[in-house]
Amino acid sequence: MEVLAGFPEDCAKAIEEAEKVDLGPVPTGNPDSLVVAGMGGSAVGGTILGDWLQEESRIPIQVSRGYHLPGYVNEDTLVFVVSYSGNTEETLSAFQEATSRGCPVATFTSGGTLARLSSERGLPCFRLPPGMRPRAALPYQFFSLATAARRLGVFSEAWGEVDEALEVLRDFREMLRVGSPTSSNPAKRLAYDIKGYVPFVYGPPIFRGVAYRYSTQFNENGKTPAGWGYFPEAFHNAVMTREAPKEIAGSLCAVIIMDPMEGEIMAKKIEGFKKLMESSIGRILEVQAYGTGRLARILSAQYVGDYASAYLGLLQGFDPSSTDSIEALKGI
Ligand code: PA5
Repeated sequence: MEVLAGFPEDCAKAIEEAEKVDLGPVPTGNPDSLVVAGMGGSAVGGTILGDWLQEESRIPIQVSRGYHLPGYVNEDTLVFVVSYSGNTEETLSAFQEATSRGCPVATFTSGGTLARLSSERGLPCFRLPPGMRPRAALPYQFFSLATAARRLGVFSEAWGEVDEALEVLRDFREMLRVGSPTSSNPAKRLAYDIKGYVPFVYGPPIFRGVAYRYSTQFNENGKTPAGWGYFPEAFHNAVMTREAPKEIAGSLCAVIIMDPMEGEIMAKKIEGFKKLMESSIGRILEVQAYGTGRLARILSAQYVGDYASAYLGLLQGFDPSSTDSIEALKGI
């Protein structure tokens, strides 16, 4: 809860630190594409970066989750390798591939093997502070990636949205924090309303990464099964779940992330989706994002979900931080 409350300040600290990192051999020109390699909580910064820069970026930004990088990755592809622990085997394998293909590489980690290999090879390493849960280090992870991407010429104009985003987060925190009562706390309300249901999280394309983050945070912090999708794609498949057998449909809960800047056509379709779904599934809940710039809207929506997932874990009697099953698989 303390880490969550410090989110806005951690974002500012992350930027300050990332500005100082020596970029070493990485060219600051125009790369052909950016690939962010990471797993689980360490991949989220990359998806949010891609959603934020969707309109401005003239190069593709892809997140690669797994042992291997996409086939097109070559010496003109900028590769950011992210592992909070620095020891995740899939990410270390992607790192080896990136260096053997001659890609310009920067790493983002709190230590471990990744930090050691970066220093041995003279690569820029953006250090994430130790002692956090990987998924809770998102402010450091995301803003280190964003600062590095800006410094390396991936984008420039969207950076002007950062101040508004941090201001929105600071204001929003007052509603979301532990001391704020449930009646005026959207994250606590969301957790109470989800308890007992299987949440499926949806949002327009700007919240694609955020919807995914909600579902993984509900899994990890809330110890709850969850799914996700995004509009308009969900109008072509997920809407059919309303026709599921009653006992299944009744256990589902759709969480819809609403964009304050939503266009008319999409807003009408989302209303239609809600109407169809509410006649059959267990419940429909809405989350409101805040702000004007894309970054404020994305991070405010994500902030509610992070808090709600931790409240959900607590409500169900779990420690939101624990990851025993993830560790069990890492040990195999
Ligand atoms: O949030 C978590 O704890 C996980 O999703 C981890 O991020 C994931 O297992 C990858 O580990 P790491 O971030 O250390 O590379």
